[in-house]
Amino acid sequence: MITATTESLIFELSSPGRRGCSLPELDVPETDLPSEMLREDLPFPEVSEVDVVRHYVRLSQLNYAVDVGFYPLGSCTMKYNPKVNDRAAQLPGFAHTHPYQPVSTVQGSLSLMYELQEALRALSGFDAVCLQPSAGAHGEFAGVLLMRAYHQARGDDRRDVILIPDSAHGTNPASTAMCGYATVEVRSDQRGNVDLDDLRAHCDDRVAGMMLTNPNTLGLFEENVLEIADLIHECGALLYGDGANFNAIMGIAKPADLGFDVMHFNLHKTFSTPHGGGGPGSGPVGVSSRLSDYLPGPIVAKNDDLFSLHWPRYSVGRMKAFYGNFGVLVRAYTYIRTLGAQGLREVSEAAVLNANYLRVRLQDVYPLAIDRTCMHEFVLAGPPPGAEGVHTVDIAKRLMDLGHAHPPTVYFPLIVPEAIMIEPTETESKETLDQFVADMVQIAGEAQTTPELLRAAPHHTPVRRLDEVRAARKPVLRYPSEPT
Ligand SMILES: Cc1ncc(COP(=O)(O)O)c(C=O)c1O
Repeated sequence: MITATTESLIFELSSPGRRGCSLPELDVPETDLPSEMLREDLPFPEVSEVDVVRHYVRLSQLNYAVDVGFYPLGSCTMKYNPKVNDRAAQLPGFAHTHPYQPVSTVQGSLSLMYELQEALRALSGFDAVCLQPSAGAHGEFAGVLLMRAYHQARGDDRRDVILIPDSAHGTNPASTAMCGYATVEVRSDQRGNVDLDDLRAHCDDRVAGMMLTNPNTLGLFEENVLEIADLIHECGALLYGDGANFNAIMGIAKPADLGFDVMHFNLHKTFSTPHGGGGPGSGPVGVSSRLSDYLPGPIVAKNDDLFSLHWPRYSVGRMKAFYGNFGVLVRAYTYIRTLGAQGLREVSEAAVLNANYLRVRLQDVYPLAIDRTCMHEFVLAGPPPGAEGVHTVDIAKRLMDLGHAHPPTVYFPLIVPEAIMIEPTETESKETLDQFVADMVQIAGEAQTTPELLRAAPHHTPVRRLDEVRAARKPVLRYPSEPT
C-alpha cells in the first residue's frame, strides 16, 4: 500500500503544456529529421521545474542510510563513514587518474596502495597482501583459488573438500563451489564454537582447507581457534579466515598469529566506505609466506623510492580489471591514517563495548542465542517469552515504525531459529543505544499484549509490509506497472 508520501508519482503530476525549462529562440535553420527517427507519441511527464525538484527530493528522503540514523545490521558493519575519506577519494590526483597511465606518472597512487598493503600486513601479521578483489565474497574466491594453487603445486590432487562451520555466511560455500570443491559442514557446539569432535571426525587427506570466521557469525570469539588451526594443518590442509568481522579485533589480535594462512578484509566495512546494495566494495587478501607466490596480481612493490607493479611468481592471475576498486582503497587508507594504530584498536574496543552494552541491557527481555560475552555483535533468539504468534520479522517491522528504518539482520545465522543479529558499531553514542533499548523493550511489551500490532507492522512507513521474496524476484520497474 502506498500512502500520501509517494502517491504523487511524476507521471501523475503531468499537465499538458507545462514545462520545466525554456529554450532560447531558434537561431539556426530548421531541419527535417528522418521520419524513422520520429514518433507520434512520446509519453514524458509534462511538469514544471519545481515539480521535478520536489519529486526527486521526496524520493531521496525515502532512502535510509547511516547518515540518517542508527543502522544495526548485524554482519554488515554499517558504521558511520567519515566524510574526509570521500574528500580524499575525490582529490583530482586520485579521481582523474587513468589506469592506462604509465607507472612513472602515478607514483602517488601506487605509493598509497603500497602503504595500504603495508598497513593491512601490520594489522593482520600476514606476509603479503593483494588489494585486487572487489568484495568480501570476491576475496573469498581469491583465497580459495590460492589454496587450490598451493595443493596443485605440491601435486596433492586428492583434496576436494573444504570444511565450513554451520554458522558460516552463505558466501563461504558459494566460493568453495566456484573453485570446484565440495563443502562439508562442521557443527557448532553449545558455546557457539566449532565442535572439535565433529571437526576431528572430518579431518583427513581429502580436506583442502577450512573456512573459519573469527569472531564468528554469532558474534563470538572462536575459543579454540589455535587448536582448530593445528588440526587443519596436521591433516595437510590450510585455514582460511573470513575477515568480515575484523572490526572486533583490530590492533588486538593478528589473524596470522591465530593460525590463519589466508584471510580477506572487507575494506568497505571495517575500513569505512559507504556500502550496501551491491557496492562499491574491496576485499583484499592477506596470506602467509607459503601462499604469497600465488597471490593475484599485480601488487605494488617498492624499490628504493620507486613504486612498481609486480606479479607474484606463480600468480593465480587477475581478479579484476586494473588495480582493484581504487576509490575504496583511498578511503580505507585515509581512515587508517586518520586513526593510527592506537585509534584502530580503540575502534574495535568501542565496537565490542557497544555490542556488550546492548546485549546486557536486552538479555532480560529477549532470549540470547548464546549466553556469553560477545564481540562486536550478538544474536538474540527471537521474540520474548509469551509473545503468541509473533515472529522476528514482526519485531523488525515494528522497529521501522519507531524510526529504526533499517532494523537489525534477521534469520541469520541460520543455526539460530528466529535470529535477530545486532551490530551497533563503534560510532553510535550511548543515547542512541539507549533509545534502541527503549524501543526494543516497548516492542517486547507490545508483543505480549497486542501481538496483532506487530504482525501488521510497519504502520507508518511509505510502503507497508511487502512480499519481500516477490519484490526481489519480480520487481515492478515500469510505470504504470503491469497488472499482476
Ligand atoms: C561473515 C561474512 N562473510 C562474508 C561476507 C561477504 O562480504 P561482501 O558482502 O563484501 O561480499 C559477509 C557480508 O556481509 C559476511 O557478513
